[in-house]
Amino acid sequence: MHLHCIMSAASILVFLGVSLFSSSDTSLSVERPNILFIVADDYGWNDVGFRNPDVITPNIDKLARSGMILNSSYVMPVCSPSRNSFMTGHYAFKSGLQHIVIKPQQPVCSPLNYTFLPQKLKELGYATHALGKWHLGFCSWECTPTYRGFDTFYGFYNGKEDYYQLTIAGGKDFRDNKTPVNATGEYSAHMYARRAESIIKDHNASDPLYIYLPFQSVHQPLQVPEMYSNQYPNVKTESRKTYLGMVTAMDEAIGNITKALEAKGIFDNTLVIFTSDNGGWVSYAGNNYPLRGGKTTLFEGGTRATAFVSGAGILKHNSIYDGIIHAVDWMPTVLSAAGGTPDPNLDGIDQWESLKTGGVSKRTEFIYNIDDMQPEICGHAAIRMGDYKLIDGYPGYYQDWYKPDQVEQSYYGDTPVNATQLFADKMMLFNLKDDPNERVDLSKKLPDVVSKLKSRLEEYHNLIVPANFPPPSKASAPQNFNGFWTPGWC
Ligand SMILES: *[C@@H]1O[C@H](CO)[C@@H](O)[C@H](O)[C@H]1NC(C)=O
Ligand SMILES: *[C@@H]1O[C@H](CO)[C@@H](O)[C@H](O)[C@H]1NC(C)=O
Ligand SMILES: *[C@@H]1O[C@H](CO)[C@@H](O)[C@H](O)[C@H]1NC(C)=O
Ligand SMILES: *[C@@H]1O[C@H](CO)[C@@H](O)[C@H](O)[C@H]1NC(C)=O
Ligand SMILES: *[C@@H]1O[C@H](CO)[C@@H](O)[C@H](O)[C@H]1NC(C)=O
Ligand SMILES: *[C@@H]1O[C@H](CO)[C@@H](O)[C@H](O)[C@H]1NC(C)=O
Repeated sequence: MHLHCIMSAASILVFLGVSLFSSSDTSLSVERPNILFIVADDYGWNDVGFRNPDVITPNIDKLARSGMILNSSYVMPVCSPSRNSFMTGHYAFKSGLQHIVIKPQQPVCSPLNYTFLPQKLKELGYATHALGKWHLGFCSWECTPTYRGFDTFYGFYNGKEDYYQLTIAGGKDFRDNKTPVNATGEYSAHMYARRAESIIKDHNASDPLYIYLPFQSVHQPLQVPEMYSNQYPNVKTESRKTYLGMVTAMDEAIGNITKALEAKGIFDNTLVIFTSDNGGWVSYAGNNYPLRGGKTTLFEGGTRATAFVSGAGILKHNSIYDGIIHAVDWMPTVLSAAGGTPDPNLDGIDQWESLKTGGVSKRTEFIYNIDDMQPEICGHAAIRMGDYKLIDGYPGYYQDWYKPDQVEQSYYGDTPVNATQLFADKMMLFNLKDDPNERVDLSKKLPDVVSKLKSRLEEYHNLIVPANFPPPSKASAPQNFNGFWTPGWC
């Protein structure tokens, strides 16, 4: 009872915006590091210099090598479901977000009863900023970043917009907080770098800082200033050359932001987390070789992220971490790194102790996705338990092993006609320890393992919240809002 009263008083102070931590109490600053959480969009497994020497990413490589490269860090096969996991710690299939991504005209957003990570960080006294791509819905203002825990937002609500025009599907899409912003023709990676630099410069360093930086890069459309693509004279296909230029532009932005942290004197007290949101998109020059498949598939190429952790709190340097991390783990893990106490009822597991020390991962199983709607683009369902992975039904569009420079932009996957029917009763089983590239289907050889994983998958299936994938709403039209994609129609 007494404790309850103290807690309530504390919550009221937080509610009133009073920080519970005095800025002079330096002992707390280690528990509240600054946190820079970078998401690279559609960034492939084989698209980073620390794994592929043909790719020019000196800044990413340096950060990654000063910390731990995550070698078994998993995300969802596409964008919105992963971002929902990063923010909430909940699986997409329990959030109604398991079917493809949120389309611009759909009256949908990440469930409003979920608490977002930045909301929890604000309770701990953090300044919170989001820059880049949102893609968690925007049909009402309550769905948008500055209503879900961010002090500021600089970026766009949808996906795959033009890097210079800042337009998508017939509407403009860029905001400074809530204010619409017209394009100036500048490339978006430069815009985000400059804004991040000014946030860092103006930040009051007595408070901890959280920057969520989901770059537009390197999603299609394939666009980049020539000075970046020109750094790849030996790349044969034009699409891959442009794509790699986009990667290098993003890397330069990360270098500039790192320099701003150093200039401010807060780099050493900053935890940097980097992850892709899904695998590289094979049709648009992303590459995941030697992993199988790519974005939209349940294969490793679609779901095993290029990722690392570096900086404040990370005790291992120049190392590779093989423990399993899943997208849903980031919310509780970041909260824990910030000194908070994660909700034990999340799908995500607090992995902060393991990441700090390079210790054993607390996760041995996870769901790649369960999509209850006709899975014509993305796959149906898959589970990992220990070393084994079971894919139930259709695995998704891209089913091959693609080398860099192998695929032209006009290539749209190997999907057989009627894939859903063809794969309906098919199961694939892989031992990822022996066969990380999913070349040997063991389902016929190990039927007992198949039924064990299948029945575990069924248990998860019973928890599904049906996909919330409504038809487009005419009320969403940018013409109703001075040409901008704008909240206010759900
Ligand atoms: C959010 O609301 C949905 C639907 O009412 C419910 O199923 C779910 O448990 C709620 N989740 C949380 C975290 O409150
Ligand atoms: C954007 O440009 C249009 C003209 O194309 C102009 O009418 C409008 O006022 C501008 N909006 C903002 C927010 O600057
Ligand atoms: C990084 O900073 C340099 C120097 O200010 C600038 O020329 C370059 O355009 C910046 N790059 C990005 C991607 O912001
Ligand atoms: C920074 O924040 C601290 C504590 O919140 C406050 O005392 C101080 O005046 C602030 N400094 C500036 C320059 O605003
Ligand atoms: C695809 O399935 C539909 C409905 O089952 C069937 O009518 C059609 O012939 C099939 N097409 C091919 C190419 O198999
Ligand atoms: C990283 O994972 C890949 C794929 O499983 C594996 O081939 C490679 O050996 C791992 N690297 C290290 C250093 O563990």
